[in-house]
Amino acid sequence: MPDIITAPAIRAMRAKGVKVVCITAYDAVLGALADAAGADLILVGDSVGNTVLGYSSTLPVSLEQMVHHTRATRQGVKHALLVADLPFGSYQSSVGQAVDASVELIKAGAQAVKLEGAYTEAIAAIVRAGIPVMGHVGMTPQSVNAFGGFRVQGKGDAGSAVIEEAKQVEASGAFSIVLELIPAQLAAQITDHLSIPTIGIGAGSHCSGQVQVIYDVLGLNQKPLKHAKPYLSGHDSIVSAIKEYSAEVRDGTFPSDKHSF
Ligand code: KIV
Repeated sequence: MPDIITAPAIRAMRAKGVKVVCITAYDAVLGALADAAGADLILVGDSVGNTVLGYSSTLPVSLEQMVHHTRATRQGVKHALLVADLPFGSYQSSVGQAVDASVELIKAGAQAVKLEGAYTEAIAAIVRAGIPVMGHVGMTPQSVNAFGGFRVQGKGDAGSAVIEEAKQVEASGAFSIVLELIPAQLAAQITDHLSIPTIGIGAGSHCSGQVQVIYDVLGLNQKPLKHAKPYLSGHDSIVSAIKEYSAEVRDGTFPSDKHSF
């Protein structure tokens, strides 16, 4: 891969048969860690709402918060493509609103934006403004209230609507598309219908790449999700480190002479 990964380079990975590795990050430290590990694409997801900010959904996340976290993450990411989510309420009203919000995220350091659903005119207008767009279909968390909860989408006959949406997103100019929480077979079908990379999360192994929320990969969630695999016991390791520190403060072994001036 080139030293600095671009949206066209991510798009070209599919033709080369190279899987695209994507992960979220929300600040300079996590961005630098994901970059050092060689992720191809780092997403400042609006999942910052569920993770860093402690909300129960992504709906309260504002454009201002996304700009803030994008600017912070930019400081740590030197190689991967940095993509920022357009949050709920920042692109649904009009094409102008979508372009203006995208411009703000680019000014904060993103190289591309992601939005949920087949907002075809908005996608085309953002692309026309020179900003690469990543699509997102299937279980789109900003529509949680319409779906009646976080559940697998596109089962059975409902699959054809998801295929249609994905095709529209590609036709509007997106350089890649996230497929979230849909049956693996449907994701494989969508991948066959499209020429842009499909990036799965809870969508099986036939996608062109995968994306995961970094808190899930690091095991910071106490209740692991079915579609996620913790690669570190982050929660337990951090609690035990802080317990050890607390014990040493209480018994006077920290700070020692080594940590004193
Ligand atoms: O916000 C996010 O983290 C996302 C990914 C789950 C794709 O949209």
